Amino acid sequence: MEKLKGIKAYIDALHKKNGPDYDDYDTIVSLLEKTGPEEIDFIREQLKPVLNPNTLFGFSYTKPFGYNGDFFIIEKMYQQYVNPDKKYSKWDQFAHRLPVVIAVVNRKKLAIQILQDYHNRAAGIEKKVLILGSGPVSEVFEFLSENPESPLQFDLLDLDDRAIKYAKDKTRKFQHKLTFYNKNVIRFTPENSYDLIWSAGLFDYFKDKHFVFLLKKFYQHLNQGGEIMFGNLNVENPSRKIMEILGDWFLYYRSEEDLIKFAIQAGVPEDKIEVTREPLGINLFLRVRK
Ligand SMILES: C[S@@+](CC[C@H](N)C(=O)[O-])C[C@H]1O[C@@H](n2cnc3c(N)ncnc32)[C@H](O)[C@@H]1O
Repeated sequence: MEKLKGIKAYIDALHKKNGPDYDDYDTIVSLLEKTGPEEIDFIREQLKPVLNPNTLFGFSYTKPFGYNGDFFIIEKMYQQYVNPDKKYSKWDQFAHRLPVVIAVVNRKKLAIQILQDYHNRAAGIEKKVLILGSGPVSEVFEFLSENPESPLQFDLLDLDDRAIKYAKDKTRKFQHKLTFYNKNVIRFTPENSYDLIWSAGLFDYFKDKHFVFLLKKFYQHLNQGGEIMFGNLNVENPSRKIMEILGDWFLYYRSEEDLIKFAIQAGVPEDKIEVTREPLGINLFLRVRK
């Protein structure tokens, strides 16, 4: 009871000053770390004024697109969107400082770097790239903005037709390089084979058996010398509790060992398997070559 009173007083004080300042960030994270399942509803109730789609936390919590991790919230992360309404600004600034959000931005930078490497190695010869769960296609857009004459050709797949529409509008000037597929990755059988198959922010939603099934399937559509990079959040995610409590955002977390095990189960030779990470180590990438 005393603990709940203390939590309420602390959250009331945050509301009074329109949200957390930088000095509050660690306190909030450690408060949530210590939260037991019986206190979660109470905390969410105290935060009700900001757990609505006007904040990043509330957008995740209320899921206006019907699920977590839609293209729109990811784009807000990439664009470092802060609601200009002062009731919400500080909460968005806080969200952008969470390690997991920084890691999402990092993984887009990693994707652009990988595309740039492929572009450089392609030496003008066409290479085919497939992106699964392509969302806002920000990495492709930024890469092509820098390399408009690139020989890379992209197939982009997403289940959500709103994501496809958004991505098509955004990338209109590169449409001759892009083919969109509005499909569920589980049911999609590619007609092409690829030099690079990339996916970030998708496999964290799949059970182990689906991860292995998809890896096995797409490995068959990889060209000799090509590679697959499938991302998954690390079991060591310092923002996990805050995502779960304030964002109602639950994922399948995986370790390096889990990813390697999946690749072996999918029949990839051991000497072709590697795990890469973005600088914070929160996004792991299973990287398999052929
Ligand atoms: C978290 S976002 C990641 C977007 C993008 N890869 C990025 O890193 O910026 C996940 C995307 O996967 C899509 N998605 C979810 N389940 C899917 C499925 N079964 N098949 C295809 N796409 C799916 C969602 O619609 C969403 O756009």
